[in-house]
Amino acid sequence: MLIDIVSVFPEYFSVLDLSLLGKAQSKGLVEVRAHNLRDWTHDVHHSVDDTPVGGGAGMVMKPAVWAECLDELLGLEPVDMPQVDPTAELWDEPVVGGDTTGGDTIDEGTAKGADGAAKPDDAVVSESVSEPVPLAEASESADSDTVLIFPNPSAPLFTQRDATQLSHAGHLVFGCGRYEGYDARVPRYYKARGVDVREYSIGDYVLNGGEVAVSVMLEAITRLLPGFMGNPDSIVEESYTGSNALLEHLQYTRPTTWRGISVPEVLTSGDHGKVDRYRRDQALARTADIRPDLIEKLDCTALSKADRKTLIALGWEVSGRNPRRL
Ligand code: ADE
Repeated sequence: MLIDIVSVFPEYFSVLDLSLLGKAQSKGLVEVRAHNLRDWTHDVHHSVDDTPVGGGAGMVMKPAVWAECLDELLGLEPVDMPQVDPTAELWDEPVVGGDTTGGDTIDEGTAKGADGAAKPDDAVVSESVSEPVPLAEASESADSDTVLIFPNPSAPLFTQRDATQLSHAGHLVFGCGRYEGYDARVPRYYKARGVDVREYSIGDYVLNGGEVAVSVMLEAITRLLPGFMGNPDSIVEESYTGSNALLEHLQYTRPTTWRGISVPEVLTSGDHGKVDRYRRDQALARTADIRPDLIEKLDCTALSKADRKTLIALGWEVSGRNPRRL
Protein backbone atom coordinates (compact mmCIF):
# COMPACT_ATOMS: atom_id res chain seq x y z
CA MET A 1 0.00 0.00 0.00
CA LEU A 2 1.31 3.43 -0.95
CA ILE A 3 0.36 6.26 1.41
CA ASP A 4 0.84 9.90 0.43
CA ILE A 5 0.22 12.51 3.11
CA VAL A 6 0.07 16.21 2.29
CA SER A 7 0.48 18.69 5.13
CA VAL A 8 2.11 22.02 5.96
CA PHE A 9 3.80 20.09 8.79
CA PRO A 10 5.15 16.97 7.06
CA GLU A 11 7.74 16.51 9.85
CA TYR A 12 4.84 15.57 12.08
CA PHE A 13 4.69 12.21 10.32
CA SER A 14 8.21 11.13 11.24
CA VAL A 15 6.45 9.32 14.13
CA LEU A 16 5.15 6.86 11.56
CA ASP A 17 8.69 5.46 11.30
CA LEU A 18 8.30 4.16 14.86
CA SER A 19 6.63 1.07 16.23
CA LEU A 20 4.72 -1.45 14.12
CA LEU A 21 4.08 0.95 11.25
CA GLY A 22 7.82 1.58 11.05
CA LYS A 23 8.39 -2.18 10.89
CA ALA A 24 5.72 -2.56 8.22
CA GLN A 25 7.57 0.07 6.18
CA SER A 26 10.88 -1.77 6.57
CA LYS A 27 9.16 -5.01 5.53
CA GLY A 28 7.85 -3.27 2.40
CA LEU A 29 4.19 -3.75 3.35
CA VAL A 30 3.54 -0.01 3.19
CA GLU A 31 5.37 2.99 1.85
CA VAL A 32 4.58 6.31 3.54
CA ARG A 33 5.52 9.57 1.80
CA ALA A 34 4.88 12.87 3.62
CA HIS A 35 4.81 15.96 1.40
CA ASN A 36 4.91 19.65 2.23
CA LEU A 37 1.98 21.42 0.57
CA ARG A 38 4.12 24.57 0.37
CA ASP A 39 6.31 22.80 -2.22
CA TRP A 40 3.47 23.42 -4.70
CA THR A 41 3.30 27.19 -4.09
CA HIS A 42 4.89 29.75 -6.43
CA ASP A 43 4.99 32.95 -4.34
CA VAL A 44 7.89 34.07 -2.15
CA HIS A 45 5.89 33.55 1.03
CA HIS A 46 4.77 30.02 0.04
CA SER A 47 1.27 30.97 1.10
CA VAL A 48 -1.37 28.26 1.16
CA ASP A 49 -4.35 30.17 2.56
CA ASP A 50 -6.54 33.19 1.89
CA THR A 51 -9.50 34.97 3.50
CA PRO A 52 -12.93 33.28 3.30
CA VAL A 53 -15.16 34.35 0.44
CA GLY A 54 -18.22 35.94 2.07
CA GLY A 55 -16.19 37.13 5.06
CA GLY A 56 -15.67 35.67 8.49
CA ALA A 57 -12.86 34.74 10.81
CA GLY A 58 -9.80 32.69 9.94
CA MET A 59 -8.23 31.62 6.70
CA VAL A 60 -9.15 28.98 4.14
CA MET A 61 -6.64 26.85 2.23
CA LYS A 62 -6.46 27.82 -1.44
CA PRO A 63 -7.78 25.36 -4.01
CA ALA A 64 -5.10 26.05 -6.60
CA VAL A 65 -2.21 24.93 -4.35
CA TRP A 66 -4.04 21.77 -3.34
CA ALA A 67 -4.92 21.03 -6.96
CA GLU A 68 -1.34 21.32 -8.23
CA CYS A 69 -0.22 18.94 -5.51
CA LEU A 70 -3.08 16.45 -5.85
CA ASP A 71 -2.97 16.41 -9.67
CA GLU A 72 0.65 15.33 -9.39
CA LEU A 73 0.05 12.68 -6.71
CA LEU A 74 -3.03 11.31 -8.48
CA GLY A 75 -1.54 11.50 -11.98
CA LEU A 76 -4.32 13.74 -13.31
CA GLU A 77 -4.18 16.52 -15.89
CA PRO A 78 -5.52 19.92 -14.76
CA VAL A 79 -8.86 20.46 -16.45
CA ASP A 80 -11.82 22.71 -15.64
CA MET A 81 -15.01 21.08 -14.33
CA PRO A 82 -17.68 23.83 -14.39
CA GLN A 83 -20.43 21.18 -13.97
CA VAL A 84 -19.42 20.50 -10.35
CA ASP A 85 -21.92 21.53 -7.68
CA PRO A 86 -19.77 23.24 -4.98
CA THR A 87 -22.40 22.49 -2.33
CA ALA A 88 -23.06 18.79 -3.05
CA GLU A 89 -22.37 16.41 -0.18
CA LEU A 90 -19.55 14.04 -1.08
CA TRP A 91 -21.51 10.95 -0.11
CA ASP A 92 -24.32 11.91 -2.48
CA GLU A 93 -23.92 11.02 -6.11
CA PRO A 94 -23.27 12.66 -8.47
CA VAL A 95 -21.58 15.94 -7.53
CA VAL A 96 -22.13 17.09 -11.08
CA GLY A 97 -25.26 17.92 -13.03
CA GLY A 98 -26.46 15.48 -15.70
CA ASP A 99 -25.45 11.90 -16.28
CA THR A 100 -21.91 10.93 -15.32
CA THR A 101 -19.86 7.80 -15.01
CA GLY A 102 -17.71 8.15 -11.91
CA GLY A 103 -14.63 5.96 -11.51
CA ASP A 104 -14.82 2.60 -9.75
CA THR A 105 -14.61 2.82 -5.99
CA ILE A 106 -13.48 0.26 -3.45
CA ASP A 107 -16.86 0.68 -1.74
CA GLU A 108 -19.48 -1.29 -3.64
CA GLY A 109 -22.13 -0.05 -1.22
CA THR A 110 -21.68 3.71 -1.53
CA ALA A 111 -24.95 5.48 -0.77
CA LYS A 112 -26.72 7.12 -3.68
CA GLY A 113 -28.72 10.18 -2.82
CA ALA A 114 -29.40 13.72 -4.01
CA ASP A 115 -29.64 14.44 -7.71
CA GLY A 116 -26.70 16.88 -7.45
CA ALA A 117 -28.02 19.27 -10.07
CA ALA A 118 -25.35 21.75 -11.12
CA LYS A 119 -25.58 25.28 -9.77
CA PRO A 120 -24.81 28.38 -11.91
CA ASP A 121 -21.11 29.13 -11.99
CA ASP A 122 -20.90 32.28 -9.86
CA ALA A 123 -17.40 31.86 -8.45
CA VAL A 124 -15.95 35.13 -7.21
CA VAL A 125 -12.47 34.21 -8.42
CA SER A 126 -12.07 31.73 -11.22
CA GLU A 127 -8.71 29.97 -11.62
CA SER A 128 -9.23 28.67 -15.10
CA VAL A 129 -6.47 26.29 -16.17
CA SER A 130 -7.80 24.91 -19.42
CA GLU A 131 -10.85 24.32 -21.55
CA PRO A 132 -13.60 22.32 -19.78
CA VAL A 133 -13.58 18.67 -20.82
CA PRO A 134 -16.48 16.23 -21.12
CA LEU A 135 -17.08 14.40 -17.83
CA ALA A 136 -16.57 10.87 -19.11
CA GLU A 137 -13.18 11.84 -20.56
CA ALA A 138 -12.10 13.57 -17.33
CA SER A 139 -13.04 10.53 -15.23
CA GLU A 140 -10.98 8.05 -17.18
CA SER A 141 -7.61 8.92 -15.71
CA ALA A 142 -8.57 8.28 -12.05
CA ASP A 143 -7.07 5.10 -10.57
CA SER A 144 -9.77 2.85 -9.08
CA ASP A 145 -7.39 1.57 -6.40
CA THR A 146 -6.79 5.07 -5.01
CA VAL A 147 -8.75 6.84 -2.27
CA LEU A 148 -8.33 10.53 -1.49
CA ILE A 149 -9.14 11.31 2.15
CA PHE A 150 -9.61 14.65 3.89
CA PRO A 151 -9.88 14.71 7.70
CA ASN A 152 -12.59 17.20 8.59
CA PRO A 153 -14.45 17.79 11.89
CA SER A 154 -17.65 18.46 9.89
CA ALA A 155 -17.78 15.06 8.20
CA PRO A 156 -19.15 11.58 8.91
CA LEU A 157 -17.40 9.71 11.72
CA PHE A 158 -14.53 7.38 10.79
CA THR A 159 -15.35 3.86 11.99
CA GLN A 160 -13.78 0.41 12.09
CA ARG A 161 -15.87 -0.40 9.02
CA ASP A 162 -14.15 2.43 7.11
CA ALA A 163 -10.75 1.26 8.32
CA THR A 164 -11.46 -2.27 7.10
CA GLN A 165 -12.67 -1.05 3.73
CA LEU A 166 -9.72 1.31 3.24
CA SER A 167 -7.24 -1.44 4.14
CA HIS A 168 -8.10 -2.97 0.74
CA ALA A 169 -7.00 0.13 -1.22
CA GLY A 170 -3.67 0.20 -3.01
CA HIS A 171 -3.02 3.94 -2.69
CA LEU A 172 -4.26 6.34 -0.03
CA VAL A 173 -3.75 10.07 -0.37
CA PHE A 174 -4.45 12.16 2.75
CA GLY A 175 -4.87 15.94 2.58
CA CYS A 176 -4.42 17.62 5.97
CA GLY A 177 -6.33 20.87 6.38
CA ARG A 178 -5.22 23.65 8.75
CA TYR A 179 -6.75 27.00 9.70
CA GLU A 180 -10.50 27.03 8.92
CA GLY A 181 -10.03 24.14 6.48
CA TYR A 182 -9.65 23.79 2.73
CA ASP A 183 -11.80 25.20 -0.07
CA ALA A 184 -14.81 22.85 -0.33
CA ARG A 185 -14.50 22.67 -4.11
CA VAL A 186 -11.30 20.63 -3.87
CA PRO A 187 -12.81 17.29 -2.74
CA ARG A 188 -15.85 17.83 -4.98
CA TYR A 189 -13.61 18.48 -7.99
CA TYR A 190 -11.67 15.24 -7.52
CA LYS A 191 -14.85 13.26 -6.96
CA ALA A 192 -16.12 14.62 -10.28
CA ARG A 193 -12.83 13.52 -11.84
CA GLY A 194 -13.72 9.95 -10.87
CA VAL A 195 -11.57 9.71 -7.75
CA ASP A 196 -12.97 7.93 -4.68
CA VAL A 197 -12.95 10.89 -2.27
CA ARG A 198 -13.83 10.68 1.42
CA GLU A 199 -14.04 13.19 4.26
CA TYR A 200 -13.93 11.84 7.81
CA SER A 201 -14.10 13.20 11.34
CA ILE A 202 -12.36 11.17 14.02
CA GLY A 203 -14.63 12.48 16.79
CA ASP A 204 -16.89 15.27 17.99
CA TYR A 205 -14.15 17.71 18.92
CA VAL A 206 -12.05 20.18 16.94
CA LEU A 207 -8.30 19.72 16.50
CA ASN A 208 -5.88 22.34 15.18
CA GLY A 209 -5.44 20.46 11.92
CA GLY A 210 -5.86 17.12 10.21
CA GLU A 211 -2.44 15.68 11.10
CA VAL A 212 -3.48 13.89 14.30
CA ALA A 213 -6.64 12.63 12.59
CA VAL A 214 -4.59 11.17 9.73
CA SER A 215 -2.29 9.41 12.21
CA VAL A 216 -5.32 7.90 13.92
CA MET A 217 -6.89 6.73 10.67
CA LEU A 218 -3.59 5.39 9.34
CA GLU A 219 -2.96 3.33 12.44
CA ALA A 220 -6.48 1.87 12.29
CA ILE A 221 -6.12 1.05 8.58
CA THR A 222 -2.57 -0.28 8.34
CA ARG A 223 -2.81 -2.67 11.30
CA LEU A 224 -5.43 -4.56 9.27
CA LEU A 225 -3.01 -5.21 6.39
CA PRO A 226 -2.16 -8.91 6.03
CA GLY A 227 1.24 -9.50 7.64
CA PHE A 228 1.15 -6.30 9.72
CA MET A 229 0.32 -7.84 13.11
CA GLY A 230 2.49 -10.52 14.65
CA ASN A 231 -0.66 -12.36 15.81
CA PRO A 232 -3.59 -11.73 13.42
CA ASP A 233 -6.01 -13.38 15.91
CA SER A 234 -5.72 -10.31 18.11
CA ILE A 235 -7.54 -8.29 15.43
CA VAL A 236 -10.46 -10.69 15.09
CA GLU A 237 -11.59 -10.52 18.72
CA GLU A 238 -11.38 -6.77 19.18
CA SER A 239 -14.06 -4.23 19.98
CA TYR A 240 -15.85 -2.79 16.93
CA THR A 241 -14.84 -5.74 14.77
CA GLY A 242 -17.34 -7.98 13.03
CA SER A 243 -21.06 -7.61 12.39
CA ASN A 244 -22.02 -7.94 16.05
CA ALA A 245 -19.57 -5.39 17.46
CA LEU A 246 -19.27 -5.14 21.24
CA LEU A 247 -16.82 -3.43 23.56
CA GLU A 248 -14.19 -5.89 24.75
CA HIS A 249 -14.22 -7.70 28.09
CA LEU A 250 -11.59 -6.61 30.66
CA GLN A 251 -8.13 -8.21 30.50
CA TYR A 252 -5.78 -9.25 33.32
CA THR A 253 -2.37 -10.86 33.53
CA ARG A 254 -0.25 -12.44 36.27
CA PRO A 255 0.04 -12.22 39.25
CA THR A 256 -3.58 -13.24 39.84
CA THR A 257 -3.50 -11.23 43.07
CA TRP A 258 -1.81 -7.86 42.86
CA ARG A 259 -1.78 -5.25 45.66
CA GLY A 260 -4.57 -7.22 47.30
CA ILE A 261 -6.81 -7.25 44.21
CA SER A 262 -7.63 -10.69 42.81
CA VAL A 263 -8.76 -11.30 39.23
CA PRO A 264 -12.29 -12.77 38.87
CA GLU A 265 -12.12 -16.39 40.05
CA VAL A 266 -13.69 -17.88 36.93
CA LEU A 267 -10.65 -16.83 34.88
CA THR A 268 -8.41 -19.13 36.92
CA SER A 269 -10.87 -22.07 36.83
CA GLY A 270 -9.38 -23.64 33.70
CA ASP A 271 -12.93 -24.16 32.35
CA HIS A 272 -12.71 -22.55 28.89
CA GLY A 273 -16.46 -22.72 28.31
CA LYS A 274 -17.14 -20.84 31.52
CA VAL A 275 -14.40 -18.31 30.78
CA ASP A 276 -15.80 -17.64 27.29
CA ARG A 277 -19.33 -17.16 28.68
CA TYR A 278 -18.08 -14.90 31.47
CA ARG A 279 -16.19 -12.73 28.97
CA ARG A 280 -19.10 -12.56 26.55
CA ASP A 281 -21.52 -11.57 29.34
CA GLN A 282 -19.08 -8.93 30.50
CA ALA A 283 -18.76 -7.58 26.94
CA LEU A 284 -22.56 -7.38 26.64
CA ALA A 285 -22.93 -5.71 30.06
CA ARG A 286 -20.13 -3.19 29.43
CA THR A 287 -21.49 -2.32 25.99
CA ALA A 288 -25.05 -1.93 27.30
CA ASP A 289 -23.71 0.40 29.99
CA ILE A 290 -21.15 2.46 28.02
CA ARG A 291 -22.39 2.26 24.41
CA PRO A 292 -26.08 1.28 24.32
CA ASP A 293 -26.15 2.54 20.70
CA LEU A 294 -24.01 -0.51 19.77
CA ILE A 295 -26.46 -2.88 21.47
CA GLU A 296 -29.29 -1.27 19.49
CA LYS A 297 -27.44 -2.16 16.28
CA LEU A 298 -27.04 -5.86 17.11
CA ASP A 299 -28.87 -8.36 14.95
CA CYS A 300 -31.04 -10.41 17.32
CA THR A 301 -31.07 -13.38 14.95
CA ALA A 302 -27.25 -13.54 15.15
CA LEU A 303 -27.29 -13.70 18.97
CA SER A 304 -27.08 -17.00 20.80
CA LYS A 305 -29.75 -18.07 23.27
CA ALA A 306 -27.30 -17.32 26.10
CA ASP A 307 -26.63 -13.81 24.69
CA ARG A 308 -30.35 -13.11 24.51
CA LYS A 309 -30.80 -14.32 28.09
CA THR A 310 -28.03 -11.99 29.27
CA LEU A 311 -29.53 -9.01 27.42
CA ILE A 312 -32.98 -9.73 28.86
CA ALA A 313 -31.43 -9.80 32.35
CA LEU A 314 -29.80 -6.44 31.54
CA GLY A 315 -33.21 -4.97 30.72
CA TRP A 316 -33.35 -5.37 26.94
CA GLU A 317 -36.10 -6.72 24.75
CA VAL A 318 -34.70 -9.10 22.11
CA SER A 319 -37.71 -10.44 20.21
CA GLY A 320 -37.49 -7.90 17.35
CA ARG A 321 -34.82 -7.44 14.66
CA ASN A 322 -32.62 -5.36 17.01
CA PRO A 323 -32.54 -5.19 20.83
CA ARG A 324 -34.67 -2.48 22.43
CA ARG A 325 -34.14 -1.12 25.92
CA LEU A 326 -37.18 -1.75 28.14
N1 ADE B 1 -9.56 18.38 11.93
C1 ADE B 1 -9.86 19.10 13.01
N2 ADE B 1 -10.61 18.41 13.86
C2 ADE B 1 -10.83 17.19 13.30
C3 ADE B 1 -11.56 16.03 13.67
N3 ADE B 1 -12.24 15.97 14.83
N4 ADE B 1 -11.56 14.99 12.84
C4 ADE B 1 -10.90 15.04 11.68
N5 ADE B 1 -10.21 16.10 11.26
C5 ADE B 1 -10.17 17.17 12.05
